[in-house]
Amino acid sequence: MKRILAFAVKIAALCALCFCASSCGKKTIACAAEKRGVDFGFAVSVTDLLNANTQKLLTGQAKILVAENCMKSSQLRPNKTFWNWSDPENLVKFANQNKIVAKWHTLFWHEMNPPFINSLKTKEEAEQMMDEHITTVMQKFKGRIRDYDVVNEMFNEDGSLRDTVWLRTLGPGYLERAIRKAHEVDPAAHLFLNEYNNEAKGYAKADAMYNLVKDFVERGVPIYGVGMQLHLAADLPYDEEAIRQNIRRYADLGIKICFSEVDVRIPLSRLEELEPKQKEIWKSLMTLAVEEPNVESFIVWGVSDKNSWIPAWKPGYGNALLFDKNFKPKPIYFELAQIAARR
Ligand code: G3I
Repeated sequence: MKRILAFAVKIAALCALCFCASSCGKKTIACAAEKRGVDFGFAVSVTDLLNANTQKLLTGQAKILVAENCMKSSQLRPNKTFWNWSDPENLVKFANQNKIVAKWHTLFWHEMNPPFINSLKTKEEAEQMMDEHITTVMQKFKGRIRDYDVVNEMFNEDGSLRDTVWLRTLGPGYLERAIRKAHEVDPAAHLFLNEYNNEAKGYAKADAMYNLVKDFVERGVPIYGVGMQLHLAADLPYDEEAIRQNIRRYADLGIKICFSEVDVRIPLSRLEELEPKQKEIWKSLMTLAVEEPNVESFIVWGVSDKNSWIPAWKPGYGNALLFDKNFKPKPIYFELAQIAARR
């Protein structure tokens, strides 16, 4: 009798497993990570979203999508009188239809601004422009976009604030002002500050970001999370423990983390030598994401090596993403899916 019972329990467990796998579709990173509380997805370009094959891939592989470029100010509003809504709308509609979280990147940045923003001079002009930008975008997408990069890349490497049109016109308070206004317009939106080289505790920029956010939390500025871009390279140092410690100090503040622009580039002249290091970095990041409860999303900066920003911006480097130039998943893809599924 006992043996029959044990057999029945095993069959039931097997059925439960099969159901889980089939209800989630294929054994993708996105499905496995979702069960661990992490939205996995990609930055997409306008052309990605026009391609039926890429669309199909994304519906199976993504739980979160962000625009690589079309939501940046110069693309969204090239001049004062024209807002190009069609590209952001396409992305958001595609995401909403497929139950994928949509993220806005980015309300404010020092790059990709149209001339009428770069030439702002007075405090009054800048306040008016900031409020208009936040209000126009966030009212339009209320209820359809969950996450916002409110400000992108506000620090220099030494931890001082970057010289931008917003800092020059509004002073250091521009960050708090932008967050407060965004919260006023859409109180349900998850508001992030996004940065690169801010992942490792002990690095000046990472510590400056932490101190800023800690001060915001203590004073009730409604920030939700911090984006760690994680544009990493296989030939540069990587310190998992320093990243873990940083994530944890944010957890102590109640702050969520988005791995917001992940890629791991490799010098093409040292492919074979550095591939193991590259894989270690990917695996470490996925482990951190699923193990640390306040990491909520893991966004890869591009779908495939075919249209990654890396070769153009970092000459000599490439092979930075999880799908190859033919949109085939690389072996590391499956290793990450396993890590995400493992408990
Ligand atoms: O759309 C214009 C087109 O009209 C014009 O003819 C053409 C001429 O150069 O430029 C096109 O814009 C380009 C844009 O990508 C869209 O393709 C810009 O030149 C080019 O500089 C821009 O590069 C993007 C870069 O940000 C600057 O905005 C990359 O694709 C994008 O991957 C990169 O993403 C950034 C994140 O936003 C922030 N963190 C770093 C990350 C990597 O640099």
